[in-house]
Amino acid sequence: MTAATTAPDYVKNKKLAAWVAEVAQLTKPERIVWCDGSQAEYDRLCAEMVASGMLIKLNEQKRPGCFLARSDPDDVARMEDRTFVCSKNKEDAGPNNNWVAPEEMRATLTKISDGCMRGRTMYVIPFSMGPLGSHISHIGVELTDSPYVVVSMRVMTRIGRAVLDLLGSDGFFVPCLHSVGAPLAPGEKDVVWPSNKQYKFICHFPDEKLIWSFGSGYGGNALLGKKCFALRIASIMAREQGWLAEHMLILGIQPPGGKKHYIAAAFPSACGKTNLAMLIPPKELQGWKVTTIGEDIAWIKPGKDGRLYAINPEAGAFGVAPGTSELTNPNCLAALNKNTIFTNVAMTPDGDVWWEGLSQTPPMNLTDWQGKPWDPDGDKPAAHPNARFTVAASQIPCIDPQWEDPAGVPISAFLFGGRRTTTVPLVTEANDWTHGVYMAATMASETTAASVGKMGVVRRDPFAMLPFCGYHFGDYFGHWLKVGKSIAQAPKIFAVNWFRKDEHGKFIWPGFGDNMRVLKWIVERCEGKAQAAETPIGRMPRFEDIELKGISGFSKKAFDELTRIDKGLWQAEVKDHERLFGELSARMPAEMVAQRKQLEQAL
Ligand code: GTP
Ligand code: SPV
Ligand code: MN
Repeated sequence: MTAATTAPDYVKNKKLAAWVAEVAQLTKPERIVWCDGSQAEYDRLCAEMVASGMLIKLNEQKRPGCFLARSDPDDVARMEDRTFVCSKNKEDAGPNNNWVAPEEMRATLTKISDGCMRGRTMYVIPFSMGPLGSHISHIGVELTDSPYVVVSMRVMTRIGRAVLDLLGSDGFFVPCLHSVGAPLAPGEKDVVWPSNKQYKFICHFPDEKLIWSFGSGYGGNALLGKKCFALRIASIMAREQGWLAEHMLILGIQPPGGKKHYIAAAFPSACGKTNLAMLIPPKELQGWKVTTIGEDIAWIKPGKDGRLYAINPEAGAFGVAPGTSELTNPNCLAALNKNTIFTNVAMTPDGDVWWEGLSQTPPMNLTDWQGKPWDPDGDKPAAHPNARFTVAASQIPCIDPQWEDPAGVPISAFLFGGRRTTTVPLVTEANDWTHGVYMAATMASETTAASVGKMGVVRRDPFAMLPFCGYHFGDYFGHWLKVGKSIAQAPKIFAVNWFRKDEHGKFIWPGFGDNMRVLKWIVERCEGKAQAAETPIGRMPRFEDIELKGISGFSKKAFDELTRIDKGLWQAEVKDHERLFGELSARMPAEMVAQRKQLEQAL
């Protein structure tokens, strides 16, 4: 038995109705549900998943409205080597993307999708990235056979009937097709976390703006509004239309008695965006107030006044659990008290959650992320290193009052940072926009557990967009240069690094709340108040330019070590820039090449 494919009467968009019918014919679900986005629908799906074992209800006194999901151990993170950009011309995808010809990829996906939803429900999720009706927002529709994806999308985006109404009869939407790729034979019992062991594909078709993901139910592989739409497809739309889609948090900073600034900051996955977005200033800087607009993605458009305006296209956070604690991120922890879906964290005997870093000593008798008794003396972590929480942005205590403003917020500065144990100083200000684009284009970072593969390897990750830029990086750098020239008041650009270590392998900089000391200098630079010294790599604060009072044991010597420019290491660095530029040479803007030569000479 497969479902009837006629759309309900209220669906006015013929293209959408036809696409849903076409997908249903191929994938053959047992039934189709058009999601209305209501609380009742969310509650019903959660109850169904508790019954099927896909969700575990957590302790209602300790974590009201919270659930735990345990994924298949082979489905725990994004898979960069299974991610494809299928542009007509291979060159357009660039060396930064895996490419397969669109007809070929379509044929492969069509073949493995024939009947892939058998025995399951296909959910139709109309969603808006960004506040409904904002001129910066865009609509998508995800079709999925995973109820976990439906409830997660309701937290992470704005879904339901209101979006369909806005779409109207001929509005534009990005079609996002997702299947876990695990059809059920009649009478077959489902597994707790269905996925496809043989095939996994996360595919983007730039010419049709189509997303097609098969075989995984986890995070960015399955919640297609996030990395697939809001970054890979949106980066392509942004270039065509003259805006920016970036892997950036957005925060508000209000100096004591001063004017509020908004800052957008790009860091690679699991390198501190969520932490910085919700920062609580140290007590020496207590008059400073930090508020959150977004913690992972920013969509940014030039405004009529010559400034750049940003929105958070998401409505929730899908954040890294390990390392989140009362000490590192109390705002985030407070957001997780209720109505949160946890995935791959550990569970206490009384139905609460735990992960590495939440407390110094783990509670007794934990169940690990795979549902097995956890051995505290063993070498396996209780929570998976990429365990995550899914929570509504409205629950973040420091959410900015303007976070849903359809006009967006004006950006004063861009920050770029990676995980660099050596070489890169605490903070460097670019001399101008072009130099800033060069700094962002050449940034590097150690790989993390957010993606499947080897961890801790330093790689170039331009703009923290290596896994997310939907087209050739050379063209992307060119687009950034062009946007900078098109606006009257370009934000200042800074490179930061919280992760430099000393000769004993210890972080030199305390990080977390103390990052406020760097933000203060940055805001004061934007206001023309703080001093800086010229160096071969850009402008840097001197010891006396940064508020360092109150960091215990932080000496002038530590500061010098943190900001030292090692000539040998930097010469090697510039060589590696050259290697990167060589790979991208077909589309590399001449200005970037000139910047590299200039830096080489300055060193
Ligand atoms: P995605 O959601 O994957 O895009 O990641 P994210 O950039 O939001 O990362 P998140 O804020 O969750 O960072 C998590 C990791 O970075 C944890 O291991 C933190 O301990 C570490 N981290 C964050 N801020 C700092 C910092 O200032 N200093 C140090 N040393 N570590 C930090
Ligand atoms: C990241 O990896 O940058 C994330 C998590 O934010 S995911 O949604 O899985 O991409
Ligand atoms: Mn991210």
